[in-house]
Amino acid sequence: MIDLNEDFWSNRYREGTDAWDLGAPSTPLKEYIDGLTDKSLKILIPGAGNSHEAEYLWALGFTNTHVIDLAKEPLENLKTRAIGFPDNQAIQGDFFEHTGEYDLVLEQTFFVQLVQR
Ligand SMILES: C[S@@+](CC[C@H](N)C(=O)[O-])C[C@H]1O[C@@H](n2cnc3c(N)ncnc32)[C@H](O)[C@@H]1O
Repeated sequence: MIDLNEDFWSNRYREGTDAWDLGAPSTPLKEYIDGLTDKSLKILIPGAGNSHEAEYLWALGFTNTHVIDLAKEPLENLKTRAIGFPDNQAIQGDFFEHTGEYDLVLEQTFFVQLVQR
């Protein structure tokens, strides 16, 4: 049984075995985001990974966007692309232990099941 802990996910990013990464915001989420008008919305993206959705939101001026991920590598990657993204909004931690209140939670392939071959 694989332990899907911080090391497991960090290693996926270090090794580049992150085949789930679309390299861009997913089309359904991009279209949903394009329909949002209130830039003050407090948004959380759990298990955000490289978080192309957060980068897109940030570029559009949704400055109250937060991401949380167990692995620090993708959070660092996000901060190199979304210049000025605040450290305290790129949270390294366990979503299931996170307390916070948000207007909106956007999920992209966070709740996945990995199959070992
Ligand atoms: C399959 S990847 C998806 C990443 C990103 N959403 C995407 O679509 O590219 C799952 C992500 O969830 C993170 N993750 C797994 N369990 C987590 C937890 N309990 N709390 C926060 N993040 C977690 C992993 O580190 C990984 O970045």
